[in-house]
Amino acid sequence: MDDKKTLYSAIQPTNNLTIGNYVGAIKNWLNLQENYDCYFAIANMHAITVRQNPAELRQKTLALLALYIACGIDPQKCCLYVQSHVPAHAELCWVLNTFTYVGEMERMTQFKDKSARHAENVNMGLMDYPVLMAADILLYQAQFVPVGEDQRQHLEIARDIAQRFNNAYTPTFTVPEGLYMKVGAKINDLQDPAKKMSKSAENPNGSVFLSDDRDTIIRKFKRAVTDSGSEIRFDPENKPGVSNLLTIYSVFSGKTVPEAEAEFAGRGYGDFKLAVGEAVADKLQPVQREQEKILADREYLNAVLKSGAERAAHIAARTLGKVYKKIGFYQI
Ligand code: TYM
Repeated sequence: MDDKKTLYSAIQPTNNLTIGNYVGAIKNWLNLQENYDCYFAIANMHAITVRQNPAELRQKTLALLALYIACGIDPQKCCLYVQSHVPAHAELCWVLNTFTYVGEMERMTQFKDKSARHAENVNMGLMDYPVLMAADILLYQAQFVPVGEDQRQHLEIARDIAQRFNNAYTPTFTVPEGLYMKVGAKINDLQDPAKKMSKSAENPNGSVFLSDDRDTIIRKFKRAVTDSGSEIRFDPENKPGVSNLLTIYSVFSGKTVPEAEAEFAGRGYGDFKLAVGEAVADKLQPVQREQEKILADREYLNAVLKSGAERAAHIAARTLGKVYKKIGFYQI
């Protein structure tokens, strides 16, 4: 038995992933997989809280698995699986619903945003999203959850729910902690640097997708909004556009932000934006090629998902069994 701590995270297989998803989540996972017992899920149950095209959802599920592997997540080391393959997620979610208040769900920023964007379909699942997310994390007794800044509020709720349950009975769940990147926990929109870069942004020029080709990536960076003045300096308050680009450059080039500032001292915005675009394209091109190769091997992907689901289900059943016992579900 190893005594590694457990780490859990997931991504929804919706739309096209952006470099924000890569930097805030996947890149962080890569560094952590050696030292933790990792579970990385494909959150298709979360995805259906917004209407999805079924054929596309299926395709994107496999594409996301191929992307995890192409980015360097090793299925031998980490448990990679699809959320809906482990029924315990829905089962624990139901129990946790009874430890969650309607008022606190109504106050969630993401719920408010998504309700406004999908006013025609403000379904119960959309509101329950954070409880399902809590169930994901708590089933595996995860100590750490590496996510982007936008998930902080959901993580706080997962902690509250865990503590509430533990206090009502006896300690049952590990209370999880978020792990946020020091640089890159929030990548912003290239056209509107006050907003986070999003998979579902209205202006596609503001988001760089992991599937964008080299020319598109470079074009988007060339058009990125910068700030008044001409200095290339990290100052998120006064220079949000340039600071966002420096963050992206730092992550994709492997240089620190001060090193990047020094590199571009005295140079113009045009040069700088081109260099950022090139750094991103250089990194993404091999990942895209690898993803395509992996995606062609359906048998391999199915095998990864099958063994992932078995491993995940085993651990999840253990936690769910404890929960059912504590709440008084009669067991045979
Ligand atoms: P999703 O698919 O919306 O986002 C996946 C991950 O990408 C991060 N992220 C960003 N990071 C930096 N800058 C950005 N602009 C940016 N945009 C997105 C998100 O913070 C996230 O880490 N609810 C989760 C999926 C989920 C989950 C879980 C996560 C379901 N169950 C359990 C952790 C634990 C989500 O929004 O994914």
